[in-house]
Amino acid sequence: MQTNQELSLPKMGCGTWAWGNQLLWGYNESMDGQLQAVFNLCVSNGVTLFDTGDSYGTGRLNGRSESLLGRFSQEYQGVNQEKICIATKLAAYPWRWTSQSMINACKSSAQRLGRNVDLVQMHWSTANYAPWQEEGLLDGLADLYEQGLVKGVGLSNYGTKRLQRVHQKFSERGVPIKTLQVQYSLLSTYPVTELGLKQVCDELGIQLIAYSPLALGILTGKYSEKGPFPPGVRGLLFRQLLPGVRSLLQCLREVAASRNKTMSQVALNWCIAKGTIPIPGAKSVQQAQENIGALGWLLDAGEVAELDQAAASSDKKMVQNIFQTK
Ligand SMILES: NC(=O)c1ccc[n+]([C@@H]2O[C@H](COP(=O)([O-])OP(=O)(O)OC[C@H]3O[C@@H](n4cnc5c(N)ncnc54)[C@H](OP(=O)(O)O)[C@@H]3O)[C@@H](O)[C@H]2O)c1
Repeated sequence: MQTNQELSLPKMGCGTWAWGNQLLWGYNESMDGQLQAVFNLCVSNGVTLFDTGDSYGTGRLNGRSESLLGRFSQEYQGVNQEKICIATKLAAYPWRWTSQSMINACKSSAQRLGRNVDLVQMHWSTANYAPWQEEGLLDGLADLYEQGLVKGVGLSNYGTKRLQRVHQKFSERGVPIKTLQVQYSLLSTYPVTELGLKQVCDELGIQLIAYSPLALGILTGKYSEKGPFPPGVRGLLFRQLLPGVRSLLQCLREVAASRNKTMSQVALNWCIAKGTIPIPGAKSVQQAQENIGALGWLLDAGEVAELDQAAASSDKKMVQNIFQTK
């Protein structure tokens, strides 16, 4: 077994689901220059964790987000270069069911990145629909760690019970679970309030990562009930959700005004105050710059309680990922 290097995680990361996703996020190649500027700005400000997935960029754009991250990290010259952490998620595709298929998938990601993956994550559990498939995939993750091909192993979309089960399985092999990422924001408190994930993660020494921390953009405050809405599925979702989240957005607006921060910054800071690492997606330097402003300060207990209360009494919540397990 090889010795794995230490994997250190920053207070906030950057999500790259949109980097290569044409259908949902309107990606096109002319955005690459802007995305590289986002990458450089993030790293130079200590936002050194980049979340990607081997399913981010399908069809012709096969693995585009990983390829871009590979190129950007190689071309980056400046502070924090050595801290860059590329966290990819390997999809539990139906044709993947052996440990070797996960090792091969991770090697393909590494090829697109032009370097080893730092943190390899299981994108979702197959427990809800094909539980027999999962064992081989998890074995593959542990193999990757043991073979020194990755610095750390993480999970995604796992609930408390399933997490504990995998933790037991991995501890028998001496493989630590470094992270768990779930949809967590003021509009998606379910993983913590109903599943109790934060407490279990703390007990097991696992860092919780908050994905979609801006509720796909709703919590930025830039979308209103009257429109305009983003195109496609996101627009349909926003039309449905926005009338039911007025009071939450108002509370966010008030806290932001009293702090002289933006709503996005408060929404992200709330995630940090809850002990999670938010990984907001950013598509422009302006968005990244604003999100970085969520660092370096912390909401006080009263403000967090006020936001918690507004979140709990919100009429609408984000739809949970269908792969999220209990
Ligand atoms: N494990 C999983 O299954 C899973 C699932 C989903 C996401 N994720 C990860 O989590 C990351 C983040 O989640 P997400 O991208 O779904 O949602 P998000 O971070 O909640 O929202 C990102 C979107 O909000 C808008 N935005 C971001 N910052 C902004 C700002 N400062 N001002 C105004 N608008 C801003 C942008 O879209 P517009 O400009 O178009 O409004 C951006 O693409 C993903 O990139 C991915 O890495 C993981």
